[in-house]
Amino acid sequence: MTLTATARPAVQLLSPRSEAVIAATAGLVAAHAEQITARFYPRMFAERPELLRVFSLSNQATGEQSRALAASVVAYAVQLIDPSAPSFAHVMTRIAHKHTSLGIRPEQYTIVGHHLLAAVGEVLGDAVTAEVADAWSEVYWLFATQLIAEESRLYARAGVDPSTPTRPFRVARRIEETDNVVSLVLEPADGAPVPDIEPGQYVSLFVDLPGGDRQPRQYTVSSTAVGTRLQVTIRKVLGTGGAPDGRVSSYLHDHVVAGDVVDVSAPAGDLVVPSSDSPLLLATAGAGITTVLPIVEHIARTQPQRPVIVAHADRTASDHALRETVLHAGSQIDDFTHYTWYESVDIDDHRSQAGLMDLGAVPLPDNVHAFTCGPLPFMRQVRTTLLNRGIPSDHIRYEVFGPDLWAAQ
Ligand SMILES: Cc1cc2nc3c(=O)[nH]c(=O)nc-3n(C[C@H](O)[C@H](O)[C@H](O)COP(=O)(O)OP(=O)(O)OC[C@H]3O[C@@H](n4cnc5c(N)ncnc54)[C@H](O)[C@@H]3O)c2cc1C
Ligand code: HEM
Repeated sequence: MTLTATARPAVQLLSPRSEAVIAATAGLVAAHAEQITARFYPRMFAERPELLRVFSLSNQATGEQSRALAASVVAYAVQLIDPSAPSFAHVMTRIAHKHTSLGIRPEQYTIVGHHLLAAVGEVLGDAVTAEVADAWSEVYWLFATQLIAEESRLYARAGVDPSTPTRPFRVARRIEETDNVVSLVLEPADGAPVPDIEPGQYVSLFVDLPGGDRQPRQYTVSSTAVGTRLQVTIRKVLGTGGAPDGRVSSYLHDHVVAGDVVDVSAPAGDLVVPSSDSPLLLATAGAGITTVLPIVEHIARTQPQRPVIVAHADRTASDHALRETVLHAGSQIDDFTHYTWYESVDIDDHRSQAGLMDLGAVPLPDNVHAFTCGPLPFMRQVRTTLLNRGIPSDHIRYEVFGPDLWAAQ
């Protein structure tokens, strides 16, 4: 048989029997997805308290991780039964990268699967017949098998044994960037070289907090200018409306000093610069600036003729971290433009615009590729403006500094 250009390869992932059951119950599960994951975590942590050192306790408190997991499982099931559903590949890749930065291992999928499927039974009760349970188990294991395969590929590529996913790095120095932002310059404490890092990638830092909790958080590698070191830049998260200050960012900001050792994962993340010579627009807000510096440094080092536009929004000029370092790296690029928006602008600052970022009037070259990083409402606004200006959606990439709830809202 000859395949025509439009024919899809006949990959039947889900058994026909399960496909019908999933089609009939996907709506029910979707409607209860948050309740299911809200049950799932407490029962899993009760049996496996060691997992509290891998999951973010704060995401648990705010429910963010529950929403991300729920959204991804339902979206995965839907695209299994609907060939016209949007591609799921980028969601899969994002999760796999996040998992590898945390050292997630294949055998842990059995634990998660057991508690997730038990939680489905608890929430949906009699609706979960043996047939329904089997079909959702099949969905879970299809998802799990694909993640495990992708994760083992990423571990192998990075040369990482997932049972020891971190290496010790010593804080060589701290750079106080603004009142609330500090950069930590880290060098390996085990004598091995710094791993290869693509611009825009992040590492997980595992921190032993006062009181005994151990917690990982992801931080973009904000500079690789010095090949024997890597730099992360941390904005201290201040609690608002009675919420506590961020645990790990506060600890790193207030307590970690030069000479201290932190556990750092291999670099992960798929927000990488396309290797073409198309112009780049980097549109960021707040802590999202940490993705800009490594990309600008990379372009200055490897493609100084490639046009780059940096657009950044912050509360005030004094909150704008890494500004001078970005401008310095950008000065080595032939065609580099820099725009800033501040919610309040100093009276003698004639270069910055007041208010929120508005890309409506910014000159954009043909075939521009955009990266955006910042709070979700900001990124939605950027994306909408760019789509309205005719930038194709596959030219717009984003990075979320938290569980990816983009698809969930
Ligand atoms: C890929 C990626 C890259 C990132 N890169 C960077 C970076 O370069 N620089 C950077 O600064 N950050 C970055 N982040 C964000 C970073 O990983 C952390 O999420 C951030 O530092 C906050 O962590 P924390 O432990 O300080 O806050 P957490 O303790 O995790 O708190 C997070 C929020 O939850 C709220 N909260 C916690 N507990 C409760 C509760 N009981 N009730 C109500 N609210 C509560 C807190 O007030 C806070 O607003 C990145 C994240 C990702 C996913
Ligand atoms: C099929 C099974 C699984 C699915 C569908 C899944 C899905 C997800 C999703 C959607 C995220 C958020 C990614 C983002 O940042 O956007 C995530 C994060 C995470 N996952 Fe998984 N996951 C699975 C299995 C596991 C397993 C087996 C473990 C290990 C016990 C695990 C541990 C974590 C942790 C620790 C995070 C970070 C969340 C946080 O810090 O709050 N996951 N996963």
